[in-house]
Amino acid sequence: MADDIKTAPRPVPADPSTMVIFGATGDLAKRKLLPALYNLATESLLPEQFAVVGVARQTMSIDEYRDKVSRDLEEFGTAVTPGRCDWLESRLAYIGGEFDAPETFRKLAEVLADPEAKRPANCLFYLAVPPNLFGTVVRQLGDAGLLDERHGWRRVVIEKPFGRDLKTARELNQLLAEELDEHQIYRIDHYLGKETVQNVMAFRFGNGIFEPVWNRRYVDHVQITVAETVGVEQRGAYYDRTGALRDVVQNHMFQLLAITAMEPPNSFEADAVRDEREKLLRAIHPLVVDGPASVAVRGQYTAGTVDWEKVPGYREEPHVAADSHTETYAAIKLKVDNWRWAGVPFYLRTGKRLEARASEIVVQFRPAPFSLFRETPMANLDPNQLVIRVQPNEGIALRFLAKVPGPDVRLGTVRMDFSYADYFGLKSNTGYETLLYDVMTGDSTLFHRADIVETGWTVVEPLLDAWRNGDGLAFYPAGAWGPSEADALIGRDGRQWRMPGD
Ligand code: BG6
Repeated sequence: MADDIKTAPRPVPADPSTMVIFGATGDLAKRKLLPALYNLATESLLPEQFAVVGVARQTMSIDEYRDKVSRDLEEFGTAVTPGRCDWLESRLAYIGGEFDAPETFRKLAEVLADPEAKRPANCLFYLAVPPNLFGTVVRQLGDAGLLDERHGWRRVVIEKPFGRDLKTARELNQLLAEELDEHQIYRIDHYLGKETVQNVMAFRFGNGIFEPVWNRRYVDHVQITVAETVGVEQRGAYYDRTGALRDVVQNHMFQLLAITAMEPPNSFEADAVRDEREKLLRAIHPLVVDGPASVAVRGQYTAGTVDWEKVPGYREEPHVAADSHTETYAAIKLKVDNWRWAGVPFYLRTGKRLEARASEIVVQFRPAPFSLFRETPMANLDPNQLVIRVQPNEGIALRFLAKVPGPDVRLGTVRMDFSYADYFGLKSNTGYETLLYDVMTGDSTLFHRADIVETGWTVVEPLLDAWRNGDGLAFYPAGAWGPSEADALIGRDGRQWRMPGD
């Protein structure tokens, strides 16, 4: 651990508040939200006056709900100690009811106003429900008068996917705008909660030495990879309607791209940062899809081997159509039309059932202007690369050439490597802690504004149209690095994908 780490003063506990979780018995609540609350409590970042109200369809007594939370925390939390669980469990309440029934919201209003329980009036409503219910829940909250901010703030967290194309995203934004002010809406993207993603901003704008080379004069191209080894698990029904472009590219990957390529904001005020993210997305050159694999490749996994285990093909997964044309892999080449990036391609790829789990951003620099090392043809020299490892092994590495010791002049690639775990130790983190804390303190920097979501959809619209009939699907065996067409996409430009972990 470095002993000269400069830290800002420790953050103070969030405002007194009540968190209402719609979908309280679902996957997101048990895997992420409750463990994240537990971690925040452990770090003393939750206020003493804090309450959680779970809302779900199931009928359950408060004791049954507490037992469930306790079991879930043991299973999905890390380093859970019973004392802290009691702290959280003593603050729980539960309401069983349908999300489209006014009765559920009437009960909720009663629970929130219960004078004996003295629950804080500030309310965070977390919509951990299927996307078709986002509008329904917000309308019901509005009708029950629960979005009124007269006695405390009222904030609504909307999970992804936010719409399934530009039209539906606009409709949802419109509906939200009828019930809420923009400052009350927190459209979440859990990638922005990852420490490493936030660190891209610290790295670029906290240091003086990288920005001068962060442009078309020095950068050859940028690659962004989000590779997963998992398949669609129990989410076949959702995924088969969605596909990789909607599930990961339009949101998570576009945010990685925006943070990597945006201009320095005027300040770290939420809107200053969000303006720059939006501006960058708006500068993406419109995609012209003229023929198969011209700017993008879509693929689907067939049966194969991942981590030494035989796994079925996508079409054999539960709740997936036997003749599905949904992509589980997508690769795109983008251009950004501005002074900084003109002519620099950005290659994005993501997929399920790939060889390894690795999310990373690679900035590849141009070669030195001419070869001093006559015996070492420039063409064979490895390029300088800055590799930001988003996960796993979070860190940043710089690959450059060094002289191999010996009497002759030979160059080899070496690596300077910063690893989070070495410097800061490993902390229990679900990725939701920062985001929940930010909602409770009213900081919307890491959340999407309506225009950011709509611009993201505008960029992918030509691909959604071109792929609407399931056209141009390539196949790859589970455990590979995607279809060979994706290698050809980048290969046509004389480049190749970096092998993560290399
Ligand atoms: C989710 C997608 O938003 O992100 C999943 O719906 C994907 O399909 C997941 O697996 C990836 O997130 P992470 O944090 O595991 O990289």
